[in-house]
Amino acid sequence: MKLLDKLPIDSKERRLALSLDQSKIPAHIAIIMDGNGRWAKQRGLPRFAGHRAGVQRVRDIVEACSDLGIQALTLYAFSAENWKRPRAEVDMLWRLLRFYLRNDLADLMRNDVRLQSIGRVEALPPRAYEELRSTERATSRNKGMRLNLAINYSARNEMVDAINTILDEARIDGNLSRLVVDEKMVSRRLQTAGSPEPDLLIRTSGEMRISNFLLWQIAYAELYVTDTLWPDFDTMQLLYAVQDFQKRERRFGGLSNSLPDPEPQIPALTEEVGDEELELSLR
Ligand code: FPP
Repeated sequence: MKLLDKLPIDSKERRLALSLDQSKIPAHIAIIMDGNGRWAKQRGLPRFAGHRAGVQRVRDIVEACSDLGIQALTLYAFSAENWKRPRAEVDMLWRLLRFYLRNDLADLMRNDVRLQSIGRVEALPPRAYEELRSTERATSRNKGMRLNLAINYSARNEMVDAINTILDEARIDGNLSRLVVDEKMVSRRLQTAGSPEPDLLIRTSGEMRISNFLLWQIAYAELYVTDTLWPDFDTMQLLYAVQDFQKRERRFGGLSNSLPDPEPQIPALTEEVGDEELELSLR
């Protein structure tokens, strides 16, 4: 694990990283980064200062996840509902995004991270949009961790877009009248297609909500909600979340040690049990 080389000998982080089970590192972590505003308020600072501190955490957590061997990291950076915030705050978030993309490209390349956006990003201000596309192009051949930045993202929009794509394709192929949609068809047309489904969904700052994030993809994700505010969510906090994840017994709706089954088979009944018999056996 590359992370171990970077953690100081005898540090708490290193001991925690060493205690992790290498065979149970989540393939995909998704994070709802929340609490920037509260972090700033607690310090008597403007909200902007919280977002700026949040960018530093994005930087640290991207590198830590890549060093941990995570295959995909999805960060909720701006929801489709966030446009309701004051104009000055929204503008500031776009400036911070541009700043991050420009300043961190070298680090993304060094860590072999491939950055991709999910969300209706065409609606972004032109300069932020261009910077995003340029970073996507520049990192498109990287083979390491995939970093999905959810920007102007809404899971419902994403599902509606996937369904419309399926309908368009069927119209072009001329088989609309025979169209039968299944789960694989939807999954392949979501913007996260190509990333494994999230195993672990982290939400910072204590709110018990999903907030329209990856609704389809998190069907079997383990949820981890921490009171830590996003600007305080450091490598140690990430390792705690992974440690907690490793203690969970994942059953995917089955019994212990089951794996997710995309198309569970309903077994044929071998024996007819009469209602009376069933009632007796349940007593
Ligand atoms: C939630 O905190 C955070 C956001 C809406 C934006 C997240 C943005 C960043 C971490 C910085 C920019 C991101 C990138 C990828 C460069 P909040 O403002 O809702 O906090 P509050 O609930 O305490 O008010």
